[in-house]
Order: sequence, then C-alpha cells, then structure tokens
Amino acid sequence: MTHAVLEASGLTLSFGAIKALDNVSFRVHPDELLSIIGPNGAGKSSLLNCLSGFYRPQAGSVRFLGQDITRLPTHRYAELGVGRTFQGIQTYASMTVRENILCGFHTRMTSGLFSAFLYWGRVRREEDRYVREAEAIIEFLELEELRHASVGELPYGLRKRVDLGRALAMQPKVLIMDEPMAGMNPEEKSDLARYILDIKEGRRIPVVLVEHDMDVVMDISDRVMVMEWGRSIAEGTPEEVRNDPRVIQAYLGVEA
Ligand SMILES: Nc1ncnc2c1ncn2[C@@H]1O[C@H](COP(=O)(O)OP(=O)(O)OP(=O)(O)O)[C@@H](O)[C@H]1O
Ligand SMILES: [Mg+2]
Repeated sequence: MTHAVLEASGLTLSFGAIKALDNVSFRVHPDELLSIIGPNGAGKSSLLNCLSGFYRPQAGSVRFLGQDITRLPTHRYAELGVGRTFQGIQTYASMTVRENILCGFHTRMTSGLFSAFLYWGRVRREEDRYVREAEAIIEFLELEELRHASVGELPYGLRKRVDLGRALAMQPKVLIMDEPMAGMNPEEKSDLARYILDIKEGRRIPVVLVEHDMDVVMDISDRVMVMEWGRSIAEGTPEEVRNDPRVIQAYLGVEA
C-alpha cells in the first residue's frame, strides 16, 4: 500500500451548535488529484482550513508525510510543504505579477532581515535564485507577457492564475485549492484545469481540490469525496460517486 501524503483521521470541529466537521477521515496519496464536493455549508472549506493549519480541529488529527502536524503553528504548515490557495482573491493588487509570485518564496527565505545586513551577498545570491525560479513559474503558467503588469489591472481569471503561481513558489509537497474556478468563464476554467493537471502530473504535486463545477471535477479527479452536514458520505472514482444514491440524494434533496 502506498503511503499517504496527507491523512486526516476523525476530524471534528464545531462552531457553537454547528458541527462543521463530524468525524471526517480520508487520505491523499502521491500523484493523486482528490476532489471534495458537497452542498454549501457542507464543511469543505472548514476541512481545508484544518488540513492547512488555519483551523484547529477539536478532535482528530492531521498527518503530513507521516508526521502529526495537528498542533503545529499555522506558519509551520506552509514551511513543511502544505501549500494552498483560498476562496476569492488573495493577490496584492498594486504589485506586479512577478512580485506577487516572489512573495510566495517568503516562507522559504533563509536570510532574515538581521542576517541580511551581515550577509548581503548571500541575500543577493538568494534573490537571483528566487527570481529565476519565479521566472520558471511565470513560464509554466504562461504569464510571460504580463510579468511586469500590475495584478490589480488583470481580469479575474489571470489574478487567480497569479495566486496559483504564488502557491507554487512555496514549493508545496501538496497543493490545496478552495474553489479556484468560482467566477471564471469556461475558457479560464479549462486553462486552469490544464495547469492543475500539469501540476499533478508534471510537477508531481498531489492536489486536493474543492470545486463546485461538476463537469470539471468529474473530468480531472482521480478520486472524489462527497461531504454533507460535516460528514463524508461517499468516496470513490468520479464514476462511482456519480452513481451513488446517497450523493444523488444529497444534491437533489430527494430519495434516489
Ligand atoms: N469561522 C467560522 N465561524 C462560524 N461558523 C463557521 C466558520 N467557518 C465555517 N462555519 C460554519 O461551518 C459550516 C461549514 O462551513 P464551510 O465554510 O466549511 O462550508 P463549505 O462546504 O465550504 O461551503 P461553501 O460551498 O458555501 O463554501 C457552515 O455552517 C458555516 O456557517
Ligand atoms: Mg467553502
């Protein structure tokens, strides 16, 4: 059996009387694109927030590459290689495409401000390296023409692509994405789907995707987990999940 990259066991999280997560367990394997779907309020974002250290589950654990990371401080998640993009826009509008992507390297910079004074040569060398790596990401995401454009002036789909570049700059070992395609037109969606597949197959980074667009989910996922009311109600290949009576009921609200 292959080792899981990311593994959640018995995650439980309540906000007052609301159980956002109720004993949720699942694994993400190497080279896998796992999608999490479910109606609004099912607990998908809460789950991603627990996986990336933004929420603390009241019970259960998160393991990453075999290490229990449940109680680590949030910044450690990114440093260890849990990368993510968020619902909505997270880019800096007044900065350029390249500067935004360079921000992603922040978690990896070994030279702090103090050592920068002492070892400015090393910092310079690091900067050159990061600029080169940022350029590689810009090329990968086909943003060459826009590298010096202000992100605030870009259409939504491109801003989301820059946000993805920022997440890639962190050199994640797993990439968690919350509704990256919300608000995109069909062309932007198919572009992003292609980049996500390239990230998984070319860069060999497993992806956890929360997405409402069922056509995209069924098209690109290796496995799908379905949530309802904070619980995982089904898990399997897109084909298995599509035909699962519980899933049909959760989505249509009727007996299948
Ligand atoms: N920070 C919070 N404070 C209070 N309640 C919260 C918080 N975060 C989530 N919840 C509640 O937990 C439940 C699950 O919310 P969550 O955002 O995880 O759902 P979701 O599946 O991501 O929904 P959507 O598809 O609309 O994004 C909801 O009832 C929500 O109101
Ligand atoms: Mg959500």
